Order: sequence, then C-alpha cells, then structure tokens
Amino acid sequence: MSAVADNARLRIAVQKSGRLAEVSQDLLARCGLRFRQSRDKLFCYGEGLAVDLLLVRDDDIPGLITQGVCDLGIVGRNVLAEHAANHASQAVVELLALDASRCRLAIAVPQEMPCESPQCLAGKRIASSYPGLLAAWLAEQGVVASIVVLSGSVEIAPRLGSADVICDLVSSGATLVANHLREAFTVLRSEAVVVGPAQAPPDERGILRDLLLRRIDGVVRVRESRLVMLHACREQLARINALLPNAQIPTVTEVAGDNGRVALQAICAGPVTWQHLEDLQRAGASQLLVLPLEKLLA
Ligand code: PRP
Ligand code: ZN
Repeated sequence: MSAVADNARLRIAVQKSGRLAEVSQDLLARCGLRFRQSRDKLFCYGEGLAVDLLLVRDDDIPGLITQGVCDLGIVGRNVLAEHAANHASQAVVELLALDASRCRLAIAVPQEMPCESPQCLAGKRIASSYPGLLAAWLAEQGVVASIVVLSGSVEIAPRLGSADVICDLVSSGATLVANHLREAFTVLRSEAVVVGPAQAPPDERGILRDLLLRRIDGVVRVRESRLVMLHACREQLARINALLPNAQIPTVTEVAGDNGRVALQAICAGPVTWQHLEDLQRAGASQLLVLPLEKLLA
C-alpha cells in the first residue's frame, strides 16, 4: 500500500503508544473504522471507509498536519497549544473536544517550598517539556525565570538539582506525590481533542472529514447519555418529565390494552442514578429501564 498522499483518502494521525493511544483507537473503532495493520504498523490501511491511520509520536502530529502529511489528528490540547506557542501560524486548530484524558499542565514545587503566588518563581529554574506554554504563562504573570527544557522525566529534575521547580502534566497527581512535589499553579487545562487544518481539503477528503467529525461527535455525545424507558398514567407525565435528568423531549406512546397508561422514552444527557429512578417511581412511574446508547446521529 502506498504512503503517497491520495486526495480520495483521508489520513488521521494518532499516538502510537502512550496515554492517548488506546483512547484514540477505541474512538475510531466506535466510529466504525477498521484498519488492516501494515507490517511496520506505522501506516494502517482503512477498510470500508477511505480513512487511513498513521501511528506516530503525539508531539509530531501538529507538524504532520501543517505539512499536509495527514488531515486530522488526535492529541492532548497541551500538544496543540505548545505547537501554536512555538509556531506563529494558526494552521492547525482544535475541531472537537473529546471529553477524555483530562489533565492539566501545572507548576509543581518541592513540598517544603513555600510558594503562594507566581512571583515566588522569579529567578528559579523551571524544568519542562512545554517551554512555549511555560514562557507565555510566565510572561503573562510578569515573572522572569529560566526554563530548563527536558523531553522526559521532568519530575526528578528538582531532586537531581538541575531545576528548582517543574512545569509538567498532572493527571491523578500520583507522579507528583511520588516525587515529593506539590501542585502550585495551573498553566493549561487539557483533554484529548481532534485537530486539523482550519480549512477542510477541497476534495473527497473534505467530505470524509465532515463525516468522520459527525461520527466522533455522535460517539462523544452518547458516551454519558442513557435511554430511559418507563410506564406511567397520562396525568402524571408532566411531573415525570420534570424529574428526568437532562432529558430531551420524550416520545410518548399508548400501551395496548392498558387504559390511560402510556410508555415514555427519553434520552438523558448525563448520569441517571438510582435516586432518579426512585423519585420517578414515587411520582407514579413503573417498568423503569435505563439503557446505554451506542450511536447517535442528530
Ligand atoms: C505524564 C506527566 C507525568 C504523569 C502525570 O507523563 O509527564 O509524568 O503523566 O500523571 P499522574 O498525575 O497521573 O501521575 P506520561 O506518563 O504521559 O509520560 P511522559 O512523561 O514520558 O510523556
Ligand atoms: Zn511524565
């Protein structure tokens, strides 16, 4: 299979290994994409839809899009923002937030170091893999400090003496605790996002891109949504509707042979708890069912 750009096939780049790898592959599978793995496993040919997969380092994805090597990518917002901070152009933009892999880029200081305001970072050496974002944040705070650029293992820099504090991604916070550091300030809130050129390609790839973005949006929107089904008397419907959490307009149908009772189904955009069900039951609902959703095309 050819690795030369083909205007009829869309290319999407995702992280080869790391935190976003599984999230990305899972998302694409839910969108109905299937790939034939090539031997080197860097380029996977799409079967069915004309969408191929590129498995790369996540830091490389914004650059690959700028160069036109691929049309879409899945990265942490932190990766896109760092790229934007280092390249004046706005060629690559966030197209869709995925509400997954949430984390933050934060300044962390040794546990015993007092640090109440960003001003106490003045003159310090800050280790980070995000020099662009860090420099912009320091400038915004009016703080002059030196940045020690490291590509990994940032959290051990203070113990090794190569930096005083760090600016790194924090998710659970376990890495900071293990390294006797504490989070002091947030530089950027991040989550997984779909990125691409601001303008869709003016050929078949543009059509494929719209189709795929709509599918991804559908997958993200149903992730937390539930279908609630129940029976109730027609007179109780207004009360029951009011108790459905984040519900869209429900569908109401007659129940055959059961005078005055109707069946209701509604999509609730968010968790439906036992408490919700018990409240609905007290309001007169019966036969309550809560089902997960798989696909949604609005
Ligand atoms: C990130 C980050 C921290 C860790 C934070 O590294 O650089 O080391 O995750 O996560 P936690 O708060 O849940 O402990 P990652 O594992 O992505 O690897 P990398 O540093 O090699 O990029
Ligand atoms: Zn790390």
